[in-house]
Amino acid sequence: MKRNKQIIQLLVMVFAVIFASCTKEGPQGPPGADGTNGIDGTNGIDGTAGCISCHTNDNELAIKTAQFEHSLHFTGGAEHVGYANYAGGSCSMCHSHNGFMKAVEDGTNFGGSHPEAAAMSCYTCHQIHTSYTREDYTLHYTDAVNMFLNENENNVFANLEVDGTSQYADPDGLSNTCIKCHQPRHRGTSQPDPSLDGTFEISAGAAGHWGPHYGTQGAIFGGVGGYIGTTDPTVPSGTKGHHSCKSCHMSFNALTGNYGSYVGGHSMNMAGTDGEPVFTACDECHTERGATIDLPGIMAANEVLLDALKADLLAIPMIDEDGHLLGGTWTHQQLAAYWNFALVKNDHSYGIHNNEYTQSLIIAARTYLGTN
Ligand code: HEC
Ligand code: HEC
Ligand code: HEC
Ligand code: HEC
Ligand code: HEC
Ligand code: HEC
Repeated sequence: MKRNKQIIQLLVMVFAVIFASCTKEGPQGPPGADGTNGIDGTNGIDGTAGCISCHTNDNELAIKTAQFEHSLHFTGGAEHVGYANYAGGSCSMCHSHNGFMKAVEDGTNFGGSHPEAAAMSCYTCHQIHTSYTREDYTLHYTDAVNMFLNENENNVFANLEVDGTSQYADPDGLSNTCIKCHQPRHRGTSQPDPSLDGTFEISAGAAGHWGPHYGTQGAIFGGVGGYIGTTDPTVPSGTKGHHSCKSCHMSFNALTGNYGSYVGGHSMNMAGTDGEPVFTACDECHTERGATIDLPGIMAANEVLLDALKADLLAIPMIDEDGHLLGGTWTHQQLAAYWNFALVKNDHSYGIHNNEYTQSLIIAARTYLGTN
């Protein structure tokens, strides 16, 4: 009996729990206030907006590309790109895209070896496809150029630097891109010093390559890299012209000639089909201003001076008809004279790049030879 009573009590408790949870809820309360709206996300930029600041149908790219393809940068670049993997990497900075990029990144004048290399292209000078905006026409290199010539064992050249930045024509230092490659590179490790007595022995094998390598324009432009006088003969002349490399080679004369010849623009060519420099676009400033600069006259006068120096060197004889050094035992002063000769000859501008320095170099050379 007692047991039944317990079971009934248990059942009552169970029902009580069940009924309690079956109690009816009251009516629903009013809805709460709406939450604040979220902030709109910014619209994504059109995937091609940057691209079309350059890749338009206005022919800009096509025109620049056509000009570039008529430059020695393009034709010679393709022919000489093998130098990227030649002479222990010492040619690649100037003769390949890969070497230039490495030298710029490392802050040196050494491009290193690149078994697989590309020739110079738009990407070598410009930062194409970096930010994918028009800003990518910015150049990779605009700093002052610490000259290759400083790397000589006997320290005759030291701390030479050329900065093409000019407040008139080139506030951003664009010329420094050109000067980085268009600077002389010496063959042979020691330099003559015209303030010293004594001689240099140069073998017939080494002589043909001795002297400043081709692109001497940046040094002449900046007034460094040659010998003047006998006290401090390598001190910079400090003269720097009004113009930038671009202002003569790229801007004024952008002409498309017959038979696909180009002057100016990205051909960077100064001469027309007759091989003579085209100065017509210079006249707007140079003949219409009071002081006319006789551009062809400057070139002709310096050519005469340089021919006289060449005749002096041939008479020794110290050079061959092509102007290459002959093997032999030469005094410091003779070698310095030859160096100046090669520097001016390889510049090819006959004083247009820096008239004062060009003349000083030729006169100094003739003084060293005693022929002035
Ligand atoms: C600063 C101007 C500039 C901008 C911005 C730009 N490009 Fe180019 N692009 C160039 C130049 C210059 C070349 C090389 C043309 C030549 O070699 O003649 C080139 C070449 C190319 C080529 C050919 C292949 C190659 O790499 O040489 C393609 C494809 C291309 N661009 C796509 C794009 C796309 C996609 C964008 C945007 C995401 C873009 N470009 C943005 C200037 C630009
Ligand atoms: C990456 C190195 C490099 C840069 C940068 C460079 N050049 Fe050159 N340039 C060369 C080389 C190398 C040659 C000769 C090409 C060859 O024959 O293989 C040359 C050839 C030339 C020529 C033709 C020379 C001739 O004998 O007809 C002109 C003019 C010239 N460069 C001007 C410029 C100007 C102006 C700039 C700057 C806007 C510039 N270069 C930037 C390496 C360079
Ligand atoms: C500091 C830059 C620089 C270095 C390094 C350099 N070159 Fe050059 N080289 C030039 C420039 C610039 C020119 C074109 C000069 C001109 O036309 O006035 C040139 C022209 C030449 C030419 C003449 C091309 C022609 O069309 O007649 C040859 C050949 C040459 N270089 C070979 C070499 C070799 C080989 C090396 C390495 C041992 C070398 N260069 C290292 C800048 C350089
Ligand atoms: C040897 C170096 C060099 C090479 C190679 C070169 N450029 Fe240039 N480019 C320049 C210089 C220097 C300027 C002048 C820049 C300035 O005035 O700010 C320039 C300007 C330009 C401009 C005008 C940029 C602007 O700010 O409006 C365009 C477009 C251009 N280059 C396209 C090209 C294309 C395309 C190629 C390849 C086919 C190329 N460049 C190759 C040196 C170079
Ligand atoms: C926008 C005007 C202008 C144009 C165009 C111009 N020049 Fe000049 N040039 C000057 C000024 C200004 C000077 C410095 C004035 C002076 O010393 O009499 C100068 C000076 C020179 C000098 C003396 C050395 C130097 O650099 O200061 C030479 C050489 C020269 N220009 C050559 C040229 C050549 C070559 C061209 C054509 C490719 C040219 N100029 C186009 C304005 C111009
Ligand atoms: C005042 C105008 C002017 C300036 C500035 C100038 N050049 Fe020249 N450059 C010339 C003239 C003119 C020639 C001779 C062209 C000819 O006879 O074919 C020349 C010749 C050259 C040559 C040899 C071309 C050849 O056909 O043999 C190269 C390379 C060169 N300059 C590069 C440069 C570089 C790099 C700079 C800047 C450091 C520069 N130039 C600045 C006017 C100028």
